[in-house]
Amino acid sequence: MSDRTHGSIEELPDGTALAVRVGDRTVRVPARCPHRGAPLARGVVTGAFLECPWHGATFDLRTGCRVRGPQCADLAIAEHGPPGAG
Ligand code: FES
Repeated sequence: MSDRTHGSIEELPDGTALAVRVGDRTVRVPARCPHRGAPLARGVVTGAFLECPWHGATFDLRTGCRVRGPQCADLAIAEHGPPGAG
C-alpha cells in the first residue's frame, strides 16, 4: 500500500502560494520551487514531505528544510489558518 497522497495541495487565490495539508496542520508554502521554479502544486506529498515534480527536490513540510534532491534554498513555510479564516 502506498502512503502517497495527491489531494492535499491547494492553490491559493493569489497564485503565489499553496496550502498543503500535513497531518492535522495546513502550511502555506511558495507556489514555485526554490530550485528552478517548478509549480509545486504538481508535486507529491508523502507523509510530511513535498517532492518537486521536476528534479525531485524534497522538502520537510514541518521545517521547510530540503532533505533530498538538487541543492537549493529551503522552502519558506508558514502556518496557514483554517479554511474560511482568511
Ligand atoms: S525545480 Fe524543483 S527540483 Fe528543480
